Amino acid sequence: MNAAIRAVTRSAIYHGMKVKGIYRGYKGLITGEIKDFKTQDVSNIIQRGGTILKTARSTEFKTEEGRKKAYETLKNNDIDALVVIGGDGSLTGARILAEEYDFPIVGLPGTIDNDLYGTDLTIGYDTALNTIVDAVDKIRDTASSHERLFFIEVMGREAGFLPLNGAIASGAEGAIIPEFAVEKDQLAETIQHGFRKTKNSSIVLVSESETTGGAMGVAERVREEYPHFDVRVVILGHIQRGGSPTAQDRILASRLGVSAINALLEGQRNIMIGIDNDEVVYVPFTKAVKKNKKIEEELIDALRILSI
Ligand code: F6P
Repeated sequence: MNAAIRAVTRSAIYHGMKVKGIYRGYKGLITGEIKDFKTQDVSNIIQRGGTILKTARSTEFKTEEGRKKAYETLKNNDIDALVVIGGDGSLTGARILAEEYDFPIVGLPGTIDNDLYGTDLTIGYDTALNTIVDAVDKIRDTASSHERLFFIEVMGREAGFLPLNGAIASGAEGAIIPEFAVEKDQLAETIQHGFRKTKNSSIVLVSESETTGGAMGVAERVREEYPHFDVRVVILGHIQRGGSPTAQDRILASRLGVSAINALLEGQRNIMIGIDNDEVVYVPFTKAVKKNKKIEEELIDALRILSI
């Protein structure tokens, strides 16, 4: 997020624009928590997790009245274009505000879930993935020494990108993800697949989603159906949302931030900036938030093949 804020600020100033930072998202847009931003306001932040602008959920912004106040703040502060950084909720809010008031808004995909359509990656995803891999590497020491079965719950809401790719990158034995929770018994498949016949420990990454039952739910099932396993559960939680961003995330955020300003200069509006096949693309808000970013089945096969 901070790398994106830095890129948007500096790129806009470079092109002769004035920049204002809006604190606490739509909440701050309604209450007018706004500060002029100069290049030095974004110094020394590219390496920091979180967001210097803070963030907040705003129920008021979901109402017409709330958005009217937000629009008035924009007008009163002489703001003539807005860059919104966030996930599904933020970009949906951006779309509605842009439509209601015919206001130029460009979005940047900022979520660890990687669930926005039209972009290969979202800002924060790679950092969260690396945190997961680091944690799994550490947990594996106990798993293998004590010959245990670990279920590690990871974030991502209804999207399985973090658990699936986290499992592949950490050499885990399985992943239980919402996308396939209804059509397949992923737990039974993983167990039948062998849990590596040559060793007695296993690690399975479980999506936090209710559809999968989460790591607790899956472990409970194992205790009932496969009582011979020595089972443990770890919920990684918010450590996945913090820490210094990876180089990949910093580059992505920088590139997207610069592109957001280019897009506004070209007269673009109501789009999210994404990267597709290493090229910058403009994705209409309506498409980006539709939740139809697909998990490649080939990745599921890769995990199954590599965990023999
Ligand atoms: O959508 C991003 C995300 O990190 C999810 O993966 C997670 O479920 C959620 O946000 C956590 O949100 P909160 O901090 O409000 O509990």
